[in-house]
Amino acid sequence: MGGHILVIDQGTTSTRAIVFDERAQPVASAQLEFPQIYPHPGWIEHDPEDLWKTTLATAREAVAKSGGPQTIAGIGIANQRETTVVWERNTGKPIYNAIVWQDRRTADRCAELARDGCAPVVRERAGLVLDPYFSATKIAWILDNVPGSRERAARGDLAFGTVDTFLLWRLTGGAAHATDATNASRTSLLDIRTGSWDDTLIELFDAPRSLLPEVRDTAGRFGETLSEHFGAVLPIYAMAGDQQSALVGQDCLSPGMAKATYGTGGFILLNTGATPIRSQHGLLTTIAYQWDGVRHYALEGSIFSAGATVQWLRDGLGIIASAAEAGAMAAVSDPEQEVYLVPAFAGLGAPHWRADARCSVMGLTRGATRKELARAALESVGFQTDDLLAVMIEDFEASGATRTESVVRVDGGMVASDWTMQFLADIVGAPVDRPKNRETTALGAAFLAGWRAGLYPGPGELAAYWGLDRRFTPAMSGAMRERRRAGWRAAVEATLHRRE
Ligand code: G3P
Repeated sequence: MGGHILVIDQGTTSTRAIVFDERAQPVASAQLEFPQIYPHPGWIEHDPEDLWKTTLATAREAVAKSGGPQTIAGIGIANQRETTVVWERNTGKPIYNAIVWQDRRTADRCAELARDGCAPVVRERAGLVLDPYFSATKIAWILDNVPGSRERAARGDLAFGTVDTFLLWRLTGGAAHATDATNASRTSLLDIRTGSWDDTLIELFDAPRSLLPEVRDTAGRFGETLSEHFGAVLPIYAMAGDQQSALVGQDCLSPGMAKATYGTGGFILLNTGATPIRSQHGLLTTIAYQWDGVRHYALEGSIFSAGATVQWLRDGLGIIASAAEAGAMAAVSDPEQEVYLVPAFAGLGAPHWRADARCSVMGLTRGATRKELARAALESVGFQTDDLLAVMIEDFEASGATRTESVVRVDGGMVASDWTMQFLADIVGAPVDRPKNRETTALGAAFLAGWRAGLYPGPGELAAYWGLDRRFTPAMSGAMRERRRAGWRAAVEATLHRRE
């Protein structure tokens, strides 16, 4: 058996494959982007064949670079969550494009369900809010809009999967139709308390059980690849939604530990342990991981625009040439000016859940320049994280738990900016830890697959593989923190009250 683990990280805009060695260090990688398909405003699709082809191509390239298939002990998959694929069981061919998690086409259906009073049952069982984000209404949309598919589903001819399941099906040549508990918990069809598909939710969303995959542990033997894919039969040992995988990769396995991943958007997860906690603030309750049949839970909040705000400075306004420039500009901005940018480009998520909100910039004076705007953009990431963490901790402690650990572990592209991470620590008022290995999403899936392959020790020993690059310690005075928080709150309020 080889001593390497291949991780497939299938994300929203690109697919990456990374090979990790015996010490969980990345030794080879490959990455390919694929087209985003926008058939109508608010609709976002991926061609499932693109997801598959980029998976195969990047995985083959990374495996070749790292010593060939005989060195691979197993595969782990981390994937964009919620994105929905329905395919024919006999051919493996999708009957429609993948409907991406960001797609809003089922907003009316969600509103209708909310009017019918369905929100409490969804929150109670699935732990989620009624929103087009999740898979259930996307499945129903496909079945209602692809002629004949409801009948085919009833005959058992069709299969549904989130991206993990679709890739597993393809890798195993249709031998395995399975998902893991973390991905299943994002469909809105799973009772997260029991870890099983729920008939009430299935009926409510009209997404038939005949389509659904088997739900398994996050770490375990999911199946084997056909030998034609890599020139060897390779076992698949782990599958996890990318944010949950990052939680594992950050070794946030104890209740009270939190991680924030900053890409285009930002995802903050707080491990809440073995009991699901219902949020009083519109946060999501989700399965963090499941092994040996035991589920652990997390509270999750998302920031819709994190790196996207910096991209807007670069591509929309043209005031910076590269994303990296934003931090340098912020560092030399005028500290006396308090400019606030509320990046509601795509609405605001938890704790506000206002899809109709739009971006605003406040506090501009005649002296404001692009430097202050760059600073406001970076600060908005800190302010939003602070808002989410505050309500997360409130929910966590309301359940009777005490959070002994105040640190936030960070990863993702934006954490390269020291300025942004220092501001984050300042405004949250807690240490921010940036790990040496920033590939935490892939690392989580590698840990889990490597554990099941017998290469790495169990989850209790993961700390030995997590190394600190830098700790950012809060340096802002308490008075200044409160002043800045109040300024931000006022800007958010004004943004929410603005009417067309
Ligand atoms: O819930 C969506 C999330 O899993 C997407 O992550 O990194 O592909 O943008 P990412």
